Amino acid sequence: MTDPARSTVDLFAPDVAAEPYPVYRELRDAGPVVYLEKLGAYALTRYVDVRSALRDWETFGSAEGTAFNPAMNQNVQGVILTAEPPEHGALRSALLERLRLSSVRELAAWIQESADAMVVPLVDKGEFDVVTELARPFPAKIVGELIGLPPELTERFVLGSDAVFAAMGPMNARTEQALGVIADVLTTIGGITAADLAPGSMGEALYRAAERGEIPPEHVVKLLWNYAGPAFDTTIHAISNLIWALARDPAQFDVLREDPDLVPNAVDEGLRYEPTIQIWGRFCRTDVSFDGVVLPGGSRVAVLFGAANRDERHYPEPDRFDVGRNARDHLAFGYGMHRCTGASLAHLEIASVVRALTTRVRGLELGETRRHLNHTVRGFERLEVRLS
Ligand code: HEM
Repeated sequence: MTDPARSTVDLFAPDVAAEPYPVYRELRDAGPVVYLEKLGAYALTRYVDVRSALRDWETFGSAEGTAFNPAMNQNVQGVILTAEPPEHGALRSALLERLRLSSVRELAAWIQESADAMVVPLVDKGEFDVVTELARPFPAKIVGELIGLPPELTERFVLGSDAVFAAMGPMNARTEQALGVIADVLTTIGGITAADLAPGSMGEALYRAAERGEIPPEHVVKLLWNYAGPAFDTTIHAISNLIWALARDPAQFDVLREDPDLVPNAVDEGLRYEPTIQIWGRFCRTDVSFDGVVLPGGSRVAVLFGAANRDERHYPEPDRFDVGRNARDHLAFGYGMHRCTGASLAHLEIASVVRALTTRVRGLELGETRRHLNHTVRGFERLEVRLS
């Protein structure tokens, strides 16, 4: 049994966050467990280890929080992310009622029509900013309408979604600012009544269930936040990241134009190659050995989805973006008990946008790009493309 390797790398430093993959490779090669001195947490970076930790929810707990600062770990108490059985199962069934694959499939035609309607005017324009004109407004429309939010409330939720991920990092000015935004958004949500939400929507259904006594009224706000907190920014950045990868590699765009059946494959490859959530927290409750290296109990753990998805021990030539690759087992949606409940919906949203583009456009040329700064999610602030 040996002690973990140590690293002084700061994963949240802007230059590392801008291009984290070489650093992830060093961490993977340093050993199965690496102590990150600046974060005060043990990193898991290899595919098999990340998957086995996520499968073992009793040892790698979420109840202690999935963030890297105490304030946010307190803030996420009472939501599904930190719930454990039996509460976790009850919350998950409530959320999955409208989000399981069979329910989401019924939305496919509406989601594709909505993507087409958003893309057609952009194609006519010939060039546009992917982030502000497509990747952000599209999930805002789809998820906003499913929850039943009016547009001004959707805008608040989108802001809140970005803040949730920013506030997961270590305590610093960005985290503090994000915690302030979350507090404001939660105040807004607290003031929402059933009358504010569209009849028949997922959001209104929660208020009706509370009226019937099926869920305690004080749980409605948290449940609404469970729907909305993780639903916007994750998908927004996944759309931008995939369009960026396709614009950078015109041959891959051509493959999809010629074989549209590969679009779902491309969505998984995009999520493998550039997972929106790069880093996520767990708390290790007892000593665990990974290949003879001991991760000590009572420690905070950094689960590096971004590193696991590029692990050459699992994916051949992991730094190659290849829409023909079968990457369905990527870890961008997590794994095990807390695996993303919105995965089917997000997958469909991303595929619809890509299809809307590949059926209308010969190729994409990258213009100005600017990375989005956030402690957890990887994406763009600006991503200009010219169409051919
Ligand atoms: C590309 C888009 C998305 C990505 C990359 C993503 C990623 C993730 C990841 C990595 C987790 C696991 C967290 C953990 O293990 O602690 C997760 C959980 C979750 N996601 Fe997503 N997500 C996406 C879209 C969505 C959408 C659209 C929704 C809702 C409509 C959603 C709702 C949730 C919820 C409620 C959980 C918590 C599940 C649980 O704790 O049991 N996500 N997501």
